[in-house]
Amino acid sequence: ASSRIPMVAGNWKMNFDHLEATAFVQRFARDLRARRFDFAKCEVALFPSFTSLRSMQVLVESDNLKIRYGAQTVSVTSQGAFTGDVSADMIARLGCSYVIVGHSERRKYHPEDDANIVDQVRAVLAAGMQPILCVGESLEERRKGIELDFAVGQVHDVTRDLSDAEATRLIIAYEPVWAIGTGLVATPQSAQDAARAFREDLRATFDGQVAGTVRVLYGGSVTSRNAIELIEEPDVDGFLIGGAALHVDELTKICMET
Ligand code: G3P
Repeated sequence: ASSRIPMVAGNWKMNFDHLEATAFVQRFARDLRARRFDFAKCEVALFPSFTSLRSMQVLVESDNLKIRYGAQTVSVTSQGAFTGDVSADMIARLGCSYVIVGHSERRKYHPEDDANIVDQVRAVLAAGMQPILCVGESLEERRKGIELDFAVGQVHDVTRDLSDAEATRLIIAYEPVWAIGTGLVATPQSAQDAARAFREDLRATFDGQVAGTVRVLYGGSVTSRNAIELIEEPDVDGFLIGGAALHVDELTKICMET
């Protein structure tokens, strides 16, 4: 067993306004408490829209909740004439612990390339939060049998310029694009193969302890039915969940299983 604390992260994407988000968190916290969920053994984090982060902060602070939260993306600049952008410091001021960086939906629908993603990672780290770096191959790479090289390459393109101290605070989410929102889930073995390959690459790039510290999450059609076998894999440290994180019962179940 590793010393890494597993993590269940719910990426709400563009769902729930701040009232719905608040109601969800109240019920979720109550359900976890009723089931005596142990936050020391598993971290739980939610990723609402920017518009819900302040409500999240008020609720978490006033009820002293152990649920953490973060943003789904971040600007690479710190302030100025960038209409529509939100800076890492603004996000950090809202009590966020994490920011999702480089989700495939951001890479697809917005001009987020590797250079931009490296800058986001740096901005998140500089603001004292942890980036959850998303990588993963599409069906095309998988069909060619180059999925591991592709995903490791995506990680490496971001990590190669980081210092040991920066890299150690990274969280990696392996999200094969073909598994996102499709009901198709990676086999535990292929999630494990990817997680191990990331760790090997970290081991080759950084000081020994970095590879052992960085958590690798799996994302892509995770449900309470497939979470148990995935989490049994030694290098899989938890989940980044989309659809299933929109249902309190389902998310609670996954937390209990992780
Ligand atoms: O970030 C999580 C996500 O992309 C996976 O979505 O709906 O397949 O769990 P889903």
